[in-house]
Amino acid sequence: MKEPMSITHGKIILIGEHSVVYNKPAIAVPFLATDLRVYIEKNKENELECSFYYGNLDQASEDLAGLRYIIESFLYEYKINEKIKITIRSTIPNERGMGSSAASSVGVIRALYNFFQIKHNDDDIKKWAEISEKIIHGDPSGIDLSVVLNEKSVYFQKNKDIEIFPINMDGYLVIADTGKKGRTKEAVNGIKKMLENNDPNIIKSIDEMGELAEKAKNSILNNDIILLGKIFNSFQSKLRILDVTDEKLEELIKISNENGALGSKLTGGGKGGCMISLARDFNSAKKIVDSLKNKATNVWLFNLKSEIV
Ligand code: PMV
Repeated sequence: MKEPMSITHGKIILIGEHSVVYNKPAIAVPFLATDLRVYIEKNKENELECSFYYGNLDQASEDLAGLRYIIESFLYEYKINEKIKITIRSTIPNERGMGSSAASSVGVIRALYNFFQIKHNDDDIKKWAEISEKIIHGDPSGIDLSVVLNEKSVYFQKNKDIEIFPINMDGYLVIADTGKKGRTKEAVNGIKKMLENNDPNIIKSIDEMGELAEKAKNSILNNDIILLGKIFNSFQSKLRILDVTDEKLEELIKISNENGALGSKLTGGGKGGCMISLARDFNSAKKIVDSLKNKATNVWLFNLKSEIV
């Protein structure tokens, strides 16, 4: 296959998932260990190929409704009659809270602009990707897109300018995949329901999550990984109150903390998906990785000075 027309990466939310929907701050980093490549070639029909679908674009499955809509709208808006085949090759696990849907929306639109050599900027890509994300997720906070588009760590708050927030800490982040699909939409809707019932516990927890995310920002600026670990554990206890964790995530969190992690939490929407742990140094991180290897479907090690190990 020829050169990809775009390469995008996923993201990891360090802290602030779910409370970010309610205007609290969150911190997320690009996850460069995996990527999503989009190839485009001329074809007899408009076709789409990815890991779980290959066929005509207009018959693509419900999971691809967002992508299909923006591809068709793009071709219409730019009056393109030429038929194409779009192929997506991705190593970002699907539906694990790692930003695969944002990466595919951004990747496909960027690839279309490149293939048809149409002048564009990041705002154009964002406009299209937001439409697709809304179709898939309902009303996303926008944190995924902000990281995927910029490929930089961000301190993010809804309806505010994105703050690029470089992370340069001594320590490691371990990421482990439960192997179970996350259920972001279900988790987000569950919280919404509890809030509609004015559950005081939920309102309080979300406020406290906002405070924890702010404290996390300061601990990162002060290179205080011990404190950040404690904040991870406190944040996870709030996520439990919001009922967005599950047994497998809790099992991995327990193993990790028993094997020297400074703190652990789920990442992304929860109810499946991935969890993250903090480790003080490489040896400690290695021990955590080894302890998780037989229990998680995939484990990654991320240097908080932003290199993938
Ligand atoms: O797409 P996910 O699973 O990484 O979840 C995004 C984070 C949430 O805060 C749960 C939802 C949102 O819109 O920000």
